[in-house]
Amino acid sequence: MKKKALALALAACMAASLAACSGSSSETTAAATDAETTAAETTAEETTAGEETEAEETTAEAAETEAAGGTLVMATNAEFEPWEYHDGDAIVGIDVEIAQAIGEKLGMDVEIEDMAFDSIIPAVTSGKADFGAAGMTVTEDRLQSVDFTDTYADASQVIIVKEGSDITGSADLVGKKIGVQLGTTGDLLSTDLVGDENVERYNKGFEAVQALLQDKIDAVVIDSAPAKAFVSQSEGLVILDEALSQEEYAIAVKKGNTELLDKINAALAELKEDGTIDEIINKYIPAE
Ligand code: ARG
Repeated sequence: MKKKALALALAACMAASLAACSGSSSETTAAATDAETTAAETTAEETTAGEETEAEETTAEAAETEAAGGTLVMATNAEFEPWEYHDGDAIVGIDVEIAQAIGEKLGMDVEIEDMAFDSIIPAVTSGKADFGAAGMTVTEDRLQSVDFTDTYADASQVIIVKEGSDITGSADLVGKKIGVQLGTTGDLLSTDLVGDENVERYNKGFEAVQALLQDKIDAVVIDSAPAKAFVSQSEGLVILDEALSQEEYAIAVKKGNTELLDKINAALAELKEDGTIDEIINKYIPAE
């Protein structure tokens, strides 16, 4: 708890003013120094002769961020197995591991803040969190409020129904009740398909699936990998073959925070290149 409070205070401090943070505790200063060293080493390794000026700038910028604590606060909604979910007391999943790998590259700790899915973008825009990683689809609408990193995974919306349902594809959804997680692309898509009045919005995808099992709704529209996880955990549910969309996941950062955006993108590029991203995804979603 203490650590969490500290990280939050630092994040707030970082957002408010870097200068105002300079008098922080010795614990923080030590952590920041460590992080600076790592960041400087990383920069040195990556620098080629022709890019020296740019690299110097990057190092100076890195030092500024790390002086504020060396912790990146990640906003997520851990109700979305296998991307992020609770395992006992821990929050685990693909996004968690990718974020940790990025943190390692940047020499920074990653602290997870679990919240409602529709609170993630506000947390990022207000500076309460440094970035949002939540199997979040890049959409035009979201790009109005946040910047997205390069994408790191593909996804699609799928339809879950009860076994034996007369719904065999999206055309059959008209006039039916669809359950979704509030504020997701599944929510938007379903609203387009069947109209606002026929969409039941839940805080968690799991609650939508429970409602389907209890015949309160006729179908659930949700991302493909969580759909598989839910269906494997309950009897009597199936996923229809039809994909309703093609989407791409990326990490959201505060609009205009190009410093962090560039750093995450650089780390992501390395993690894609060396196979780490594939490895993490395959660990949670074994290739069929
Ligand atoms: N991909 C969908 C979207 O961006 C759903 C994401 C839900 N993520 C979560 N962690 N609950 O809207």
